[in-house]
Amino acid sequence: MQPTRPLSGSEPKPAGSDGAPWPGPDPTVAPVTIRTLQRAMRERKTFAALTCYDATTARWLERAGVPVLLVGDTAAEVILGHPNTLHAPMDFLVALTAAVRRGAPRALVMADMPFLSYQASDEEGVRNAGRFMTEGFADCVKLEVDASFAPLVARMSRAGIPVVAHIGSRPQHAKQAGGYSAAGKTATDAARIVADADAMLAAGATMLLVEATPVEVTEEIVSRSTVPVIGCGAGPACHGQVVVTHDLLGLTDRQPPFALPIVHLGKQIAEMAEAWKSKVRSGNLGEHPYALSDEQRAAFLAGIARREPRAGSQ
Ligand code: KIV
Repeated sequence: MQPTRPLSGSEPKPAGSDGAPWPGPDPTVAPVTIRTLQRAMRERKTFAALTCYDATTARWLERAGVPVLLVGDTAAEVILGHPNTLHAPMDFLVALTAAVRRGAPRALVMADMPFLSYQASDEEGVRNAGRFMTEGFADCVKLEVDASFAPLVARMSRAGIPVVAHIGSRPQHAKQAGGYSAAGKTATDAARIVADADAMLAAGATMLLVEATPVEVTEEIVSRSTVPVIGCGAGPACHGQVVVTHDLLGLTDRQPPFALPIVHLGKQIAEMAEAWKSKVRSGNLGEHPYALSDEQRAAFLAGIARREPRAGSQ
């Protein structure tokens, strides 16, 4: 983070991963676009995607070369502390999307459309999608759909809004389904999801995102798809893979088996907090960065001494 307060001594040092100052985004590196992902798909180079909800994390993920950042409605859970993804207000997600864009100017930023931002009417859906593009500076929007949403997806596509059609398990239906669950586990349901994929491709979806399906179902979708397919717990056949970053960071208490922690930041946060508590207790706060000059100190002390005592004080 660019420090907003003076550091003791020398110049602020925005650190890169090696502790060296980070020079900012490399102007010779082209931004990731839909075409970049289409090329990766053609060349069979699987790409990584991660959820992201803030500018600081976005900066680090972009530095690490993650091409796709999803501002997921999982923000309702990992940022706001709700038990499901139904509680992600539009304005909140638009603001987070803009923050991620500021932190990662070259990544492809995918904005998740929250519960009831597109289901009530197509017109409202198109306008809300437009907000993610114009106010959130997103590159595309993602919506949880089945074949019945084809007219909306077609309308968004006609308006120039790239749509990622999220099919398979749809967490915004968790209340109806009685909780989070995999999708496509019966022949009928599997065939329905493949039909959803076909309908989305016909409607002009720019990408598909398939969540929590058996590999046979995913493979069938990938084999029919003319656009990149991103999987979330959908097996290795997909062109890209996305998971919730907080799961990989070891910050969540429970993770799905396909997104187990890679690092354990939760423990490190606890260690940091313990260390800060003992610093505070011992008064060992480091060098104090602010000082008066001799001249200002003398003037200050003289001014204090001259002030009349307040009525009632000694
Ligand atoms: O909101 C989200 O984070 C998602 C991913 C889990 C795919 O939709």
